[in-house]
Amino acid sequence: MKSKICLTGIKPTGTPHLGNYIGSIKPALSLAKKENHQSFYFIADYHALINNHDKSMLEEQIYEVAASWLALGLDSEKTTLYQQSDIPEILELNWILSCFAGKGLLNRAHAYKAATDKNKQSHKDCDSGVSMGLFCYPVLMAADILFISSDIVPVGADQVQHIEIARDIAQTFNHTYGETLSIPESFVQKEAALVPGLDGRKMSKSYNNHIPLFLPEKKLRKLIMKIPTDSTPPETPKDPEQSNVFKLYQTLANPNQLNEQREKYQNGISWGEAKQELYELINKDLAPARERYADLMNNKKIIREILREGAERVRPKAQNLLQEVKERIGLKLK
Ligand code: ADP
Ligand code: TRP
Repeated sequence: MKSKICLTGIKPTGTPHLGNYIGSIKPALSLAKKENHQSFYFIADYHALINNHDKSMLEEQIYEVAASWLALGLDSEKTTLYQQSDIPEILELNWILSCFAGKGLLNRAHAYKAATDKNKQSHKDCDSGVSMGLFCYPVLMAADILFISSDIVPVGADQVQHIEIARDIAQTFNHTYGETLSIPESFVQKEAALVPGLDGRKMSKSYNNHIPLFLPEKKLRKLIMKIPTDSTPPETPKDPEQSNVFKLYQTLANPNQLNEQREKYQNGISWGEAKQELYELINKDLAPARERYADLMNNKKIIREILREGAERVRPKAQNLLQEVKERIGLKLK
């Protein structure tokens, strides 16, 4: 049986947070353990270049994302971990695919749409501050996914539109030249689709409402204690579904813990206690990885070596697919 190819990427734009872990890293790591699954996880550094023009910060954040994957359990023998910019074939494919991507399709992509909507609201030119990198973001993402014939792409719900765009581009290509590109499926875990941030909106580095994964214990506790709550007295029953503290608890708890916690809310729990329990749950889950993360960040040579080996494994696959694509479109003269 042909094995399924799983692929996902994370932008190096800061230490990954709980939303990245629950929405993307954790499901990706469990897919990687499945039989008949080959996994390829990468650091989307060219995507990060859209916003990050600070050389040393970008470098550091590439290390941070790689170290996070490894600390959280990625086995680099089984899963190929690599840096996007080490695979130049992705950029060749990016150009080819851009010739199959309707501009209208990209006009509707959510990052571009959000930028133009914001400009319109403040009466600026709609494309003010928008780079071609931001506009073409989904095409590069399609190249990331299609160059390796990905079957499954584990992501948070916010990325589903991008996978749909990749599917659309691949189908247009196949329609023109015959079956060449595999059509990927997004893999979104319902309960992990959207992890709320400290303020209740989607957890995101760009909203600065995130829980970074490897904060020292004390800082982690302090951050969790700051989650805004109302002034309901401790003994008053609380609706868990209305509480951000509970929603965060839900992302890591097992069914038993969840039932117990639900009961406590219904019987009345103080917010301080509820937050303490959330802190303990997160801390217990992340403490072992925190140590491995610190070791790796003190030993960057190991990270460089793993990324180099990853690129060596992936590049021949990229070269093969590109060769086939070029033959299909008539660029390889015979
Ligand atoms: P950010 O929004 O903080 O910049 P990224 O865009 O780098 O995060 O996201 C990397 C991966 O993590 C993507 O698969 C994305 O869907 C997932 N992800 C990010 N934030 C969340 C969240 N709050 N809930 C679930 N998944 C998320
Ligand atoms: N766009 C994704 C994000 O913001 C990162 C990413 C880039 C990605 N290329 C990808 C995710 C390919 C999955 C597959 O999180």
